Amino acid sequence: MTSAGGIVAAASGFDDVSASPGRYQLAAAPAQANLINDPKKLTDVWAYNRTVPGPVLRGRKGEPIEITVLNQLDQPTTIHWHGIRIDNKMDGVAGLTQTAIPARGDFTYIFTPPDAGTYWYHPHNKSWEQMARGLYGTLIIEGDATAGMYDRDLTVVADDWRVEQTGKLHEGSFGNLGDWSHGGRLGNILTLNGIAYDRLPVVSGERVRLRFINTANARILRFSVIDHPLWVVALDGQPVPPFLADKQGVELAPAQRADVILDIKGKPGDEIAVAETSGDERLAAGYLVCAKDKPSLTMRAEQPGPLIPNNVPQPKAGDAKVVELVMQGGAMRGIRSAIYKGVNYDGRSLAIDQRQTWAFNGVAGMPDQPLFTAKRGESVKIVMKNQTVWPHGMHVHGHHFRILSRTSASSQSLSLGGEAEALRDTVLMAPEETVEIALVADNPGKWMLHCHMLEHQASGMKTWFEVT
Ligand code: C2O
Ligand code: CU
Repeated sequence: MTSAGGIVAAASGFDDVSASPGRYQLAAAPAQANLINDPKKLTDVWAYNRTVPGPVLRGRKGEPIEITVLNQLDQPTTIHWHGIRIDNKMDGVAGLTQTAIPARGDFTYIFTPPDAGTYWYHPHNKSWEQMARGLYGTLIIEGDATAGMYDRDLTVVADDWRVEQTGKLHEGSFGNLGDWSHGGRLGNILTLNGIAYDRLPVVSGERVRLRFINTANARILRFSVIDHPLWVVALDGQPVPPFLADKQGVELAPAQRADVILDIKGKPGDEIAVAETSGDERLAAGYLVCAKDKPSLTMRAEQPGPLIPNNVPQPKAGDAKVVELVMQGGAMRGIRSAIYKGVNYDGRSLAIDQRQTWAFNGVAGMPDQPLFTAKRGESVKIVMKNQTVWPHGMHVHGHHFRILSRTSASSQSLSLGGEAEALRDTVLMAPEETVEIALVADNPGKWMLHCHMLEHQASGMKTWFEVT
């Protein structure tokens, strides 16, 4: 748990990064990580302050945070504060909201988070490589819990890595066009909090808040805790009326977060598996390890109460500006032709020569013109039509949105479930699904909207909009 008021760095067992309350320094640099829990097979990674994930930064709703980023990589970088409804200048998008921080350069981000919740940070320059090499971390904004709501607050940052037997990162597959046009670059090992089979300490009988974050480049993950019902209390940082996750667990597209509450039913000394269930088998990904000491005996109602909501404006779907986003491309469908950097290409040369395999509204990569321009305060409905046979995790910067509907000709639509009440920053779309979202464009500036499967983003799936 954090100390009251200030900001604490709680990087599991690593260095303290907080220079003084509310101030941090993050150095992006090459480092080594023990991903597979074998000190003889360390992996060369890129990391913030030499830890993977980077340090957990904690702030408080409404209080400024200042983070100085030192770029000790040999390529430019930035940091994007994912999910924060941030001042546009601080959004960290290279080429749109700032110039990338050059190698050996630095940049100071200052912002006041308007919302409490579970967020994260990562580069927004060549993200597909920089994040796959280990650059990401958790940003927790305090101020959403009621007193005594739970006993313990744990973060589960999940990532899949593609490594060789020796523990070396599989570098040969960076930029592989086959991955880019399919499901992205998927890993062959899964880490929680930077290590395979992480062990998180709990006490029997406790009520625990688990903050799941999917930081994988492209893999959709699904988590359950064996024999423990999970109450979902927040999605993408924003509180939802608590609902029980289904037996399969909580599904997370890349970049999505889910905060769940569970009561530890194990006996002292028990190990409770946190399972990843997106495949056919439930695979243990880590463990909640019950301390040997006495169980905790706080009596509570079975259903946790809600978190304290943030003040996010609700879109008026009725008089919203309607914008259409047609998503095309990828393996098995392809694109006949699309515009890339102002030039029209046929699908083949677009892929082979330009390395672009996806398009939004017939344009691959960042278009010159915004998808839409909205006046500050205007409600906008975006109708996203996934005409590809791949799932996508669509992310909107600077705003949270409601999901109005999901429909699909091929009836592969995901169920809205607890999402109907949610305000999300990233939505998972099934193949061939149409998803309508709505937001209030109340944050001035130029904002990206892209697929958070980073290889899809790199090979075409991105656009932007402007709030004036
Ligand atoms: Cu988490 Cu545009 O990113
Ligand atoms: Cu995608």
